[in-house]
Formats: sequence, C-alpha cells, structure tokens
Amino acid sequence: MNNLKISGKEFRLFIPAEKIDKEIKSMAQQMNKDLKGKKPIFLSVLNGAFMFTSDLLKNITVEDSEVSFIKLASYDGMHSSGKVTEVIGLNIDIKDRCLVIVEDLLDSGRSMSYLMEVLKAQHPSEIKLAVMFYKPNALKFNVRMDYKAILLENDFVVGRGLDYNGIGRNYPDLYIINE
Ligand code: IMP
Ligand code: MG
Repeated sequence: MNNLKISGKEFRLFIPAEKIDKEIKSMAQQMNKDLKGKKPIFLSVLNGAFMFTSDLLKNITVEDSEVSFIKLASYDGMHSSGKVTEVIGLNIDIKDRCLVIVEDLLDSGRSMSYLMEVLKAQHPSEIKLAVMFYKPNALKFNVRMDYKAILLENDFVVGRGLDYNGIGRNYPDLYIINE
C-alpha cells in the first residue's frame, strides 16, 4: 500500500519493511556479541514496541534471554502531552540484572528519561536502550541510546507499531504524514 488515511490525515509510504527488517537484524547481531553471558532482560515498552520487540527477539541468540513488557503513556495524538504517567506492569525483579529497554521511537526523550529513573531506583546492573527509530532534532532530554536503527527527521510517522490516534500500528512499512 502506498497511501494511508487515518483520522482525516494522509500518510505516504516512507521506509519499506525490508529496509527496517535489515537494520533490526544487524542490531540483533551486534547485541548477540555484546550481551553474551549477561542473561539480559529485554524490557519492551508497549504498545508501540510490540512489532519491533518481536522482530528483534526472533534474531537474538543470547543464552538465557528473558522478555518482559511494560506500558507507559505520555503521548497523545501527534503531540507529546507533557504529562508523564506511571510505569505499568513492572512486576519482575530487575536488581543486578542487565536490562535492555526496547522502544519504538525516541522523540523528545521525556518518557524514556522518566522510565530510566524509575528503573535505576531498582538497581539493575546496567540499562541499555535499543530504539527502532529516533528523531535527534526533537531530543530534549539527556537520553543515551546504545542501539539505534533508523534516523528520522521530525515529521510524524505511523506503521511498524507506531500509531496515530490508535490506528496504523499493524503496517509493516513506515508511513510519513503528508503536510
Ligand atoms: P517522547 O517521550 O517525546 O520521546 O515520546 C516518545 C513516544 O511517543 C514514542 O515512543 C512513540 O510511542 C510516540 N511518538 C513519538 N513520535 C511519534 C510519531 O512520529 N509517530 C507515532 N508515535 C510517535
Ligand atoms: Mg513508545
């Protein structure tokens, strides 16, 4: 599909699934080297990261890897709502563990810097951050990415897990808004 219409907004095909698949595979290969022996916990940030998590984890061969899911909502429509809500579903013991946060997209970094603080308070041995997409020009908070796949400008995108008003997460390609 080349065009999408969601809640009256038009989007066009931007990054094909094959390109994203390739970048995620090479990220997984790097992780397979770096995380060997660390028994990592991959902590996926729902809802947006569901597809990325699945694609990434299918390519992870690190022994004793675990996957867990949390949720945090600070984004509303096309604008960061500014208010940070709580971390939901963090019900595993992360003390002295190697955590790998799996996130769909790093925008301002507000939600990620909040999540990092919450996690640090529980004393994991280390926290690594893996993002599928990142918008360096939108970054306002001091968040370090350890693994990043694809750089974006500030335009709004949907697909590959990302939504506009809850719609569009299911498409394997990435779509960009027509301004
Ligand atoms: P931040 O707290 O400003 O970094 O917001 C990050 C979150 O907002 C991401 O994890 C996405 O879920 C969502 N987000 C940011 N930009 C976009 C976009 O272009 N399309 C869809 N969701 C986005
Ligand atoms: Mg997200």
